[in-house]
Amino acid sequence: MREFIYYSKSAVTSGNLIKDDLKKAGRMDIVCNVIISAFFISNEMRDDVKFHLIFDGPPNAPRHLVLESNEEMPISKKNVAGLIKRMLYKSPDSEGLLEVFPGASIERKSFEKVVKELDAGWVARDIPSKEGTKVPSSSGNVLLLDGKGVDVRSLKLKGDEVFIIGDHEGFPSDKKKFLKKIDKVSVGPKVLFASQVITVLHNEIDRKE
Ligand SMILES: C[S@@+](CC[C@H](N)C(=O)[O-])C[C@H]1O[C@@H](n2cnc3c(N)ncnc32)[C@H](O)[C@@H]1O
Repeated sequence: MREFIYYSKSAVTSGNLIKDDLKKAGRMDIVCNVIISAFFISNEMRDDVKFHLIFDGPPNAPRHLVLESNEEMPISKKNVAGLIKRMLYKSPDSEGLLEVFPGASIERKSFEKVVKELDAGWVARDIPSKEGTKVPSSSGNVLLLDGKGVDVRSLKLKGDEVFIIGDHEGFPSDKKKFLKKIDKVSVGPKVLFASQVITVLHNEIDRKE
């Protein structure tokens, strides 16, 4: 399973706010592009992707949406925004994933909580060592995609990694602080669009498999 967490500070959290101009819905156009890159290849869908989206925009933040490869998920490249809109309409205002469609679930949950729950190394990193210093960096399975990170080509991926990716503005300062303990991974020397990073990363993993 290839697992991703996409964080958007601006993506709206009410279906009513998704109208024709997706840019005005907190850059929902970018959200649609990352979903297309995550799930679609020519003439078929990838069958091994789990994609977490955290929307932190108005009026009901935070919302945690999960899309998972499923032949019955009602998704089409032309109307990804329609699927998100319908998920937001059905969203509970509490924790606990509600499956709105096959492979498409939603709940109220913060970015920090989602990351901690998915990261097997999180607790270990908070335990002080014998010398009293905290473990400086992770050997956990959650990795932050960042152009200044370790080259993904030099990593031996185990297959249980969860890759965190930011929106067009990266991460706000409180999230950057929270992410400090997480190891960074780069897919190349240029700063790419989030959707491009996903395509390149998929390709790197495809080549290793
Ligand atoms: C459009 S970029 C964000 C640009 C933003 N101005 C910044 O400085 O963070 C969107 C996201 O893609 C990821 N990203 C961009 N280039 C990357 C690279 N070369 N390697 C790994 N991740 C990258 C990062 O997670 C980033 O938050």
